[in-house]
Amino acid sequence: MTYETIETETRGAVTLITLNRPKALNALNTQVLADLTSAFAAFEADDSQLCAVITGSGEKAFAAGADIKEMSEKPAADFYKEDFFAGWTSDVVKKTRKPWIAAVNGFALGGGCELAMMADFIIASDNAKFGQPEIKLGVAPGMGGSQRLTRAIGKSKAMEMCLTGRMMDAEEAERSGLVARVVPLADLLDDAMKTAATIASMPPLAAMMNKEMVNTAFETTLDQGLIAERRMFQVLTSTEDKAEGMAAFVEKREGKWKGR
Ligand code: CAA
Repeated sequence: MTYETIETETRGAVTLITLNRPKALNALNTQVLADLTSAFAAFEADDSQLCAVITGSGEKAFAAGADIKEMSEKPAADFYKEDFFAGWTSDVVKKTRKPWIAAVNGFALGGGCELAMMADFIIASDNAKFGQPEIKLGVAPGMGGSQRLTRAIGKSKAMEMCLTGRMMDAEEAERSGLVARVVPLADLLDDAMKTAATIASMPPLAAMMNKEMVNTAFETTLDQGLIAERRMFQVLTSTEDKAEGMAAFVEKREGKWKGR
C-alpha cells in the first residue's frame, strides 16, 4: 500500500511508519490523519504484525505540529462541524490495540508532541525537543496535549509548557518521565526497531493486555484499575500461551507463542 504523506514497511513482525512531509517538518494535516488511520488499521488487521514504530523523515523533526497553513484559513464553524482532531483519538489511538512506539527525532511540537504521546511510549533522540507552543498562535492544544502531557509530567511542568510555549529538550523530557529513553540520533531507529522486535517476540495477547492494563491506570480509579488488572490477569491464565509460557519456564526452553 502506498500513501501520500507517510511511508510504511514491515521488518519481520514490526511495522515501521514514517511521517513523510520533510519540507513542512512533517506537519500533520488532514491527509496525514487519513493515511495514518489507514496504516494503523492495516497494522492492526495483520496477524503477522505485532508492534509498530512511528518516526519522522529527516533529522530535524518528528512532526512540528498540526499543519498551521491548513488551519489558518479554515472557518471556525468548520472546525466544530468536522469535530476537527477527533479522528486522532477515535481512529488512531482507540482502534490500535497492539503496542506502538514513537521514535522521536528532532522537533515534536504541538500535534507532533501530542502524536508522540498517543504512542505507548516514546524513545527520543538526543536532539529531540518537545513542546506545546499553540498559545503563541492564539490557540491551545487540540489533540490531547493538555491532558496527556499533564498526566505524563504533572500539572506544574505541563502548565508551564502550555502557558509559555517553551520547548523541553530530550534530557529534561527523560527526567520528567515523558520519554522512556534517550539515545543518540544515529542509533534512534535501530534502537526503536530492536525494542519493537523484543515486544513482538512476546506472547501477543499478553502484550495487548499489558498495554490495556497500563492505559487503564490513566483512565480510572485505583480500585477499578486493580480490579481490571486482576480480571485481565485471570483471562490470560486461560490462554494456550500461558500454558506454553509456564511449561517453557519449567523445561528451561524458549516459549513458542500462538496468540491464543
Ligand atoms: N505547519 C505547517 N508548516 C510548518 C509547520 C507547521 N506546524 N512547522 C513548520 N512548517 C514549515 C514552515 O512553514 C517552513 O515551510 P516553508 O519553507 O514553506 O516556509 C518549513 O516547515 C520549515 O520550517 P522553518 O523554516 O520554520 O524551520 P526552522 O528550523 O526555522 O524552525 C520550528 C523550526 C521551530 C519547528 C518552526 O518551524 C516552528 O515553530 N513551527 C511551528 C511549531 C508550532 O507552532 N506547532 C504547533 C502547531 S498548532 C497544533 O499543533 C495544534 C494542536 O494542538 C494539534
